[in-house]
Amino acid sequence: MTENYPEDYHAELLSYVNLEAEQRILEIGMNLWSQEPDNFAKRLKHVVDVDRQASLLIAEHNETSEIAGFLVVRHFINLRKTVGSVEDFVVDPAYRRLGIGRLLMQFAEYSLRQRGCESIEITSQPTREAAHRLYESLGYQKHDIDVFHKTLRTT
Ligand SMILES: CC(C)(COP(=O)(O)OP(=O)(O)OC[C@H]1O[C@@H](n2cnc3c(N)ncnc32)[C@H](O)[C@@H]1OP(=O)(O)O)[C@@H](O)C(=O)NCCC(=O)NCCS
Repeated sequence: MTENYPEDYHAELLSYVNLEAEQRILEIGMNLWSQEPDNFAKRLKHVVDVDRQASLLIAEHNETSEIAGFLVVRHFINLRKTVGSVEDFVVDPAYRRLGIGRLLMQFAEYSLRQRGCESIEITSQPTREAAHRLYESLGYQKHDIDVFHKTLRTT
């Protein structure tokens, strides 16, 4: 594995959301989500401030502090083991192929190991080829597991 980290960026846990960060995260996130999430500001605040099982990890420029990408790590404690997951992983298209995604994934692994996770699970659509290359380059193996989905009515 080539440790090709971008010199100008570092990864850190976002511990406080201001309006600028919220807008930037939404802007980058819209490259991943098909529509703006409902109650986005509230959701972001929940992940950052309330949910102790989740954290938002960001990659930001060392000098300008501009956010270039992010992901959410989460850990689950079930009756057998402690498992980590990576969700909402995206890098601004203008900053791709610089090693920022790898930097974020390595920090995600460190952070989940710190929380006692024994393994990491990521679900991904088959079209996400760039992400799959990245996961494979970091040693992730594809499992043949069916994911069942049901939309719950709110009324
Ligand atoms: C997946 C994603 C986060 C990768 O971010 P990134 O910062 O460009 O990734 P990196 O520069 O760290 O790439 C690391 C390695 O991943 C692989 N990779 C990344 N993008 C690739 C691409 N477009 N084609 C082929 N391989 C790619 C390469 O092995 C690369 O190493 P290299 O540049 O030394 O060859 C980014 O492409 C993205 O935001 N995609 C859209 C959202 C998405 O699919 N998210 C994942 C949901 S599961």
